[in-house]
Amino acid sequence: MNFSDSEIVASIMNDNGFEIIEDISLSDVIFINTCSIRDKAEQRVKNRLQEFKFLKKKKKDLIIGVIGCMAEKLNTKFFEYDCIDLVAGPDSYRDLPNLIKEAENRQKAINITLSKEETYSNIIPFRFNTNNVSAFISIMRGCKNFCTYCVVPYTRGRERSRDAESIINEAKNLFDEGYKEVTLLGQNVNSYRWRLKDEDINFANLIERVALVSPSLRVRFTTSNPKDISDELLYNIAKYDNICKSIHLPVQSGSNSVLKKMHRGYTREWYMDRIEAIKRIIPDCTISTDIITGFCGETEEDHKETLSLMNEVGYFYAYMFKYSERQGTIAYKLFENDVPEQIKKRRLQEIINLQQKLSFNSNLKDVNKVYKVLIDSASKRSDEYLSGRNSQNKVIVFPEKGYKIGDYADIKVIKCTSATLIGEVV
Ligand code: 5AD
Ligand code: SF4
Repeated sequence: MNFSDSEIVASIMNDNGFEIIEDISLSDVIFINTCSIRDKAEQRVKNRLQEFKFLKKKKKDLIIGVIGCMAEKLNTKFFEYDCIDLVAGPDSYRDLPNLIKEAENRQKAINITLSKEETYSNIIPFRFNTNNVSAFISIMRGCKNFCTYCVVPYTRGRERSRDAESIINEAKNLFDEGYKEVTLLGQNVNSYRWRLKDEDINFANLIERVALVSPSLRVRFTTSNPKDISDELLYNIAKYDNICKSIHLPVQSGSNSVLKKMHRGYTREWYMDRIEAIKRIIPDCTISTDIITGFCGETEEDHKETLSLMNEVGYFYAYMFKYSERQGTIAYKLFENDVPEQIKKRRLQEIINLQQKLSFNSNLKDVNKVYKVLIDSASKRSDEYLSGRNSQNKVIVFPEKGYKIGDYADIKVIKCTSATLIGEVV
């Protein structure tokens, strides 16, 4: 989400006569795009600000702005850091050129107004830091789900969908520019809704239209909320070869009492029904998830239910977090953050250990199979190897053999670790 937002900000700045540069020490304006989702993310920003303070000492006219979710949340508190001149929330990016003017007049500039409509739909993201192969397309903003642990509905505002035509046009333009893969982004893509002329477009319809841009444009999406993922979507994923066979379906917990307290809107049984639907309708689909351990009141029994659910699903990948209390959320107001840190740590480690086994098992099943891989980078380990992903979103590394970034290659998997498949060109 933040990466995509940075591309919108870069586009607005570029249209207003600013140039995006690599060398931070030469810049006149620095924006730090921030995330508030967990305390760790906020700590990272605070450390980074120390570095900027140093730059500002050397260059007095330098303007430093904090943008994004943390700006929304901390508001004028950021001005307690002397080096900060400007604060802008996620719906105020169009105002950045004005805010810079204010900051140039040595005023502290701030805009954290949240909007019910802003989707930046007419802004063509400025793709910096790109591999020219994959790009993100933001299809909606904000969230209306109010999971009790989560700060997003407060920092990014309420859910709104972006104009379907502008999304399809963005996909077409990216394809014409040579991109081979787009990822449709939203906090809960399955509640996407748009009225196009006299038609109601839902996410299943939207992804179909994006897939029809070209059979050689791969389409991915994230994130799906389990309570809203429809069979209609699953059938469309199965129908189009270029819609990738990988679904990220954050479960958060395997225990019904924790799910209820989290206000997730589904039970373990509902979640497992959706998993069965995925496995039935798209048999070659991989499934990944997000898990929070140590949420308020989580018992050892609840934790074991998370482990058993992970085993039942057989995730190929998981993002795993310790619960991090966020000010302003429902959990912060109503529940006690009562799982001791040591226990959170131990439970997280057990979850990570199990996931490592599940990832390895999932990867083992791929050995000797051949996959169409979209090459997106040189391998980090060796120049002689390229790296790409198959439709199932697994990373496959293989000797380069004359291929280059942006090519598709048929690769046979010859061995694996829990993180990577290693293959050879067939
Ligand atoms: N503590 C820990 N993890 C959280 N997430 C969201 N809020 C919190 C929190 N307060 C995780 C969820 C979500 C992912 C993006 O971040 O797992 O799916
Ligand atoms: Fe946060 Fe829940 Fe919305 Fe995801 S669905 S962004 S976890 S409130």
